[in-house]
Amino acid sequence: MTFFRTDIAQKILGGCEYRPVERFEASASVNIALCKYWGKRDSQLNLPVNDSLSVALPGKGTRTRVTRLLGGTKDEVFLNERLTQETESFYRRVVDHLDLFRRDAGDYFRVDTVNSVATAAGLASSASGFAALTRAMAGVQGVSLDDDALSILARLGSGSACRSMYDGFVRWYKGGREDGMDSFAKPLRNVWRCLRLGVLTLNAAVKKTSSREGMAHTVETASLYNAWPLQAERDIVALEQAVTTQNFEQLGATAEHNAMAMHATMMASWPPLLYWVPESVAVMQKVWQLREDGVPVYFTMDAGPNVKLLFESRVEHVIRQVFSDVEVIQLFS
Ligand code: PMV
Repeated sequence: MTFFRTDIAQKILGGCEYRPVERFEASASVNIALCKYWGKRDSQLNLPVNDSLSVALPGKGTRTRVTRLLGGTKDEVFLNERLTQETESFYRRVVDHLDLFRRDAGDYFRVDTVNSVATAAGLASSASGFAALTRAMAGVQGVSLDDDALSILARLGSGSACRSMYDGFVRWYKGGREDGMDSFAKPLRNVWRCLRLGVLTLNAAVKKTSSREGMAHTVETASLYNAWPLQAERDIVALEQAVTTQNFEQLGATAEHNAMAMHATMMASWPPLLYWVPESVAVMQKVWQLREDGVPVYFTMDAGPNVKLLFESRVEHVIRQVFSDVEVIQLFS
């Protein structure tokens, strides 16, 4: 049976009581996957092939305010204070998400969304964006939903958004049901105070190939993709263990290996897909050199050219010396 996004929204919101308010504001943090979500088993519902595991970046993300437009004739969507046009894909994706929560066709909204990270540059602003929008829409419609339901609705906007419903370490369970009602994220609750993530923004331009297109292309054309779900399964186990025992080497090595394996599937697709720029490779080589010199630092990369470093506070001074423009984020306060 084929399920559409609206069927799932109906399953979740159908029985809810609506207590609409005029305006509601919500925020969500960006998350960076240590075991990546790469490949969908259902592209309509954003159901993944594999489980993934991320960590949230506190203070980096999206703040979204939704205001009911009385007597409006269409939705208005502002991204970083700029009114987006109906022809832009960002507008379409936001309006499609509003449709999930709309009660009748005359319900229109103004959406003001502000990102504190570069939009669509591989820093996962779509994850925090759809998580914040989901919370804001549930708020403005006055529906009371549990965390699993909110995570599922966020997933319908952008897969990785289901993980941005929580802070800290988060695991997204792929689930097995065709309707995806068992595919949502759960927090791990472990705290790792000395863990740091360094963001190296090498290129903040909007990327040419979205992760949505990139993963579909890889699944369709890369024979190496067959190896991916098995690696992800192994990596999730190793990462959960590393988080529980606070084994930094295991966490870093598993995350870096996982990112490289994901990028290898992209390179093995045809026409090939490569998100890296020469500066990305230069950073990787510096990281490998640092490890040879005894500095425990690892990296991860998403569907973009920017690199995120993983290290612990005791080597922060070295990292700042080597990468002068790194933005260091304390993951747990
Ligand atoms: O949720 P999307 O469609 O933006 O895809 C995210 C894909 C990666 O960032 C590459 C991996 C991940 O798990 O976040």
